Amino acid sequence: MTGIDYNERIPNNVGLSGNKSLQRALEHWQPGYLKWWGEMGPDKSQAMDVYLRTAVSVEPKGWAHYDYVRMPDYRWGIFLAPAEAERKVNFGAHKGDPAWQDVPGEYRSTLRRIIVTQGDTEPASVEQQRHLGLTCPSLYDLRNLFQVNVEEGRHLWAMVYLLHAYFGRDGREEAEALLERRSGDADNPRILTAFNEKTPDWLSFFMFTFITDRDGKYQLAALAESAFDPLSRTCRFMLTEEAHHLFVGETGIARIIQRTCDVMNQHKTDDPARLRGLGVIDLPTLQKYLNFHFSVTSDLYGSEISSNAASFYTQGLKGRFDETHLGDDHRLEAAEYEVPDVAEDRIIVRHVPALTALNERLRDDWIADVQKAIDRWNRIPDKAGVPFRFKLPHKGFNRRIGLFNGLHVDPAGEVVSEAEWTHRHGGWLPTEEDRAFVHSLMGRVTEPGKFANWIAPPLNGINKQPVNFEYVRFS
Ligand SMILES: [Fe+2]
Ligand SMILES: [Fe+2]
Repeated sequence: MTGIDYNERIPNNVGLSGNKSLQRALEHWQPGYLKWWGEMGPDKSQAMDVYLRTAVSVEPKGWAHYDYVRMPDYRWGIFLAPAEAERKVNFGAHKGDPAWQDVPGEYRSTLRRIIVTQGDTEPASVEQQRHLGLTCPSLYDLRNLFQVNVEEGRHLWAMVYLLHAYFGRDGREEAEALLERRSGDADNPRILTAFNEKTPDWLSFFMFTFITDRDGKYQLAALAESAFDPLSRTCRFMLTEEAHHLFVGETGIARIIQRTCDVMNQHKTDDPARLRGLGVIDLPTLQKYLNFHFSVTSDLYGSEISSNAASFYTQGLKGRFDETHLGDDHRLEAAEYEVPDVAEDRIIVRHVPALTALNERLRDDWIADVQKAIDRWNRIPDKAGVPFRFKLPHKGFNRRIGLFNGLHVDPAGEVVSEAEWTHRHGGWLPTEEDRAFVHSLMGRVTEPGKFANWIAPPLNGINKQPVNFEYVRFS
């Protein structure tokens, strides 16, 4: 069952037409989804034809078909990666059992909570990004924004399918609630803090897709290891879509760095004020945005020590990144892991049972991945002969969740006093003035092949099309 049927009202490869009550339930949810998209999806995109990819198969290679799509007509559907024959539970107390095709009663509410929490991030990011199309730096970027948005909408479908198919009435109620919460709403906010922050400009958007979508990658990878096979299969397909979101973020920032370095060399200056006057974003400001997004996203992994994380693992609900390729007992009964701790205002390292430190471990895996991408960014100033290098702040910097909450840690990892934090944080995090400056650059560029002054063109177009291709048509 890997072919996708586009003749159905809800495209799918899960044999939906063979399960009439599930099909009816999802067809009942569909109009509510479309209404949500109309209200909270990309602003003023209704009449645009966008060069988008759509899934035509779930095989790892060649699943995408590219064509112009009128935005509200995008065919959101339910796509699971192919079943792995005789897949087993690969970790925890049930290791070696056959993977579950249904939800064990004792894990029902925990699993539902995990799926709802993941599902809630998907529409949240669409809501956070909904006004960005009005200030796109090019048609190429506008197309990429919309590609990310429609796929986050599809990720919501993926989680809603699981809720409807496996969690009965509770699942259907949760699916409704996913359409009712709103990012940043004081009365009915999205579940996780980072998904209630604003994404007010394209620099924030690129940082978000670079860093926060990468959290998505690590969460999905951990859920792809789940003993609950339908969750594993849906996450595996979502990961193939996520890769493009990370690409959009990483190359978006790389192009900003490139443009700034070019202007620095052209005008022989590294003076931020002068560079701002020339209409580009100075590198220290980019570093501050990086510090902000890195710290806010770090919080998404939760507390360093977590008994919940331990039970999710032991119960087989959520694995580690790359679980099946790790060479240990996959039960972690005796293993230890290093976590930070604070003793007398100094950050130290403590060994704790690995089982309780799984949040920290996933965060560390993510940090290592972010660091690799930062190294790739740093080749740009290196090549341009600019001495500036980007550096990740210490993981205790600007944290609100876990051990560092309530402490002030500077980017270098020193605990500082309240007074020092107050005095210096404007040098570490974007100030109102920085944000106002970035905001002032946001215009709207819609001529094919033209780019805003603050960002370099990409090296290549999408799907081997030229960079000056008409990625979006306005009618
Ligand atoms: Fe997503
Ligand atoms: Fe994403």
